[in-house]
Parts: sequence; structure tokens; C-alpha cells
Amino acid sequence: KPVYVLNGPNLSRLGTREPDVYGAQTFADLAALCRDTGRELGLSVDVRQTDDEAEMLGWLHEAADGRIPVVLNPAAFTHYSYALRDAAAQRTAPLIEVHISNPAAREEFRHTSVVASVATGTIAGFGLRSYVLALQAIAESAE
Ligand code: DQA
Repeated sequence: KPVYVLNGPNLSRLGTREPDVYGAQTFADLAALCRDTGRELGLSVDVRQTDDEAEMLGWLHEAADGRIPVVLNPAAFTHYSYALRDAAAQRTAPLIEVHISNPAAREEFRHTSVVASVATGTIAGFGLRSYVLALQAIAESAE
């Protein structure tokens, strides 16, 4: 069963980016963790990252057309991109919003997610394990 793990802006910088907030592990580590978790769960996990909103929308359209479940870390797009929200709303399979940090415990502007209301659910604050938990939720979902 295919699953997309889609990552928004600056997540390619994991490991060097604010390690006190996001940890020391790199994006390559995250991708390997997701693929390994997928293998254990019988999911074929496709991990992608972009800093480009248009590219992210295209991937969400692909997922909608292919009925492919999505684990989505929209990064900063979370807080302001209605275009991303509208693309996520077209989902035809579970779409789980994930965050490495807990945005609710951070700056005021991170307390709003324009994506949350169209996601199946949200997992935030567990570091890279947020992705593992989201993949488990997808593996267990009937849809
Ligand atoms: C993030 C939280 C966002 O507020 C931030 O803009 C990110 C990463 C997270 O995974 O904790 O880039 O989505």
C-alpha cells in the first residue's frame, strides 16, 4: 500500500536547523526512519520535501487522484496557506498532519493551523516519532 510522507519548507535543514527545537537528526535520517517504519507496517513509503508551495500542491493533487494516504508536515505553510488547506481538503484517503515540535507550546502565530480542520487528525510534539505514530495510524485505518 503506497503512502506519501510530504514535508514542507525548511525541513531539508533538519539536523542543522534550530537543533534545540527540532533535534540533531537529519532529513536523511527522517526519510530512513519513515521507510523502515513503512517496511515493518507493510506500507510503501514515498518521502518527499519541498520549499515550493506549488510543488506541494501538485503532490497533494496526485495523492487525491490516486487515493493515496498522506502524512503531511506542512511546516510554516501550516499557519497561513489556504491554498495548501484547499488541496488537503480534496483528500480521498486519510491525511494526517504531523509536527516534530508542539506548535501549541510555541509562538502565538504557530497556534493556528489552517490545515487541521481538513486533516483526518494531527500528531504533534513527539519529535521524529510523530511520523512513526502517523504511519501506524494509517496502517491501522480501514480506509
Ligand atoms: C513544524 C512546526 C512549524 O511551526 C514550523 O514552521 C516548521 C516545523 C514542526 O514540524 O514542528 O517548519 O511543522
